[in-house]
Amino acid sequence: MKNGAVQIGLVGCGVVGNGVVRILQKNLELLEAKAGTKLHLAWVASRRKKPLPPIGGIRPLFTKNWRDVVADPDVDIIVELIGGEEPAKTVILSALKAGKQVATANKAVLARHWEEIFTTAQATRGLVYFEAAVGGGIPVVQGLNEGLAANRIQRLYGIVNGTTNYILTRMSEEGLRFSAALKAAQVAGFAEADPSFDIDGVDAAHKLAILASLATGGWVKVEDVHREGLTNLDLWDIKFARRRLGLVAKSLALADFNGDEVYARVHTTLIPENHPFATVRNEYNAAVIHGDAVGDVMFYGKGAGAMPSASAVVSDVMYLARQVAGGMAGRLPYVMFDGKRKLKILEPKNKQLRHYLRFSAADRTGILAAVTQLISKHDISISSVHQEDNTLTESDVVKKFVPIVIVTHEAPEGAVQAAIKESRRIRGLSRSPVHLRIESLG
Ligand code: HSE
Repeated sequence: MKNGAVQIGLVGCGVVGNGVVRILQKNLELLEAKAGTKLHLAWVASRRKKPLPPIGGIRPLFTKNWRDVVADPDVDIIVELIGGEEPAKTVILSALKAGKQVATANKAVLARHWEEIFTTAQATRGLVYFEAAVGGGIPVVQGLNEGLAANRIQRLYGIVNGTTNYILTRMSEEGLRFSAALKAAQVAGFAEADPSFDIDGVDAAHKLAILASLATGGWVKVEDVHREGLTNLDLWDIKFARRRLGLVAKSLALADFNGDEVYARVHTTLIPENHPFATVRNEYNAAVIHGDAVGDVMFYGKGAGAMPSASAVVSDVMYLARQVAGGMAGRLPYVMFDGKRKLKILEPKNKQLRHYLRFSAADRTGILAAVTQLISKHDISISSVHQEDNTLTESDVVKKFVPIVIVTHEAPEGAVQAAIKESRRIRGLSRSPVHLRIESLG
């Protein structure tokens, strides 16, 4: 505290950082009234010098070196918005070791270094708040950690990546090709610097690992999340699933908890068109958290973009500022973390789910029989079979082939994977089938 104000140092001033500056500029009086203390943006560290407006009549100091900010003994709160693992991790750890509190939007660094960060926070009696790391502007982290603190969390699932949801929405509603939809998400500023993080499910796995770690009090690592990307998906399947099966394709992150057992996964999932998630469009995110006392609680809002993420970052700053001003910061940890807690991560192989398999087959006698024989050989019970007239298809991939869709009853993942592998040996099939899980989310 200096001059009666909590001193804030912003490290990284890109898309979200600019949003933070704009909110502080626009709403400072309101924020101070809500936080119950004066707030002062003392420093901005950024690779590129940019003209920053005065906030509350004072212009923040500028540096290209984040160490200047962490070294300033007057700074109370470091806001880390660099993204990525390094130097972000060093910034966070250095700030904690210097006795400061931290707000970060950085899901990668948290998910990958959860143990080190929260062990350090415990040792230094510092706080790390990270609302913007999951769900953009949705207060799902506070909701889970504080609002649902009374509960044992039994399940959580969500649409937690705005970019993939945006791509799926534009593909299904406007028939846009995957590449065009991705480009639009990048232009809108939703995608990660490396968009393969979004497309391959890495970003969603980071976020799920964070929520699952919060829910368990242990550390669910990114490697513990079974992960599949969007890449195997075709526009034809999105349209077919909606028209013929009443199912909508969403990229979902799901975690089930049973005692110390955790089963966590990220993949494209077909959900009923009347589930509330089916209407979650574009960059919006949603999450359902199921607690043993409360049942299902649903969160919804913008999951990507400068201002929604900045909204979450500024709310963290306000929580922290209140505690700094009240002399309470770091007396008690924010996150329950027990490094000795051993979690048992379940493998997907025995998990019973319904599956959608779309084979692309040469239009000749016996193919349909060969496919259904293969499925029954692996003891998978078929719910329905659809051989579509290929004039219905719009995708280049299926133009020359007849799509055969198999919808299964609940079957073990391992058996389905074995059938898929063996299907590569059937002559007349063009490639591995498109494989999607079906969840009723009931
Ligand atoms: N690339 C992320 C997304 C940004 O699309 O959800 C928000 O974390």
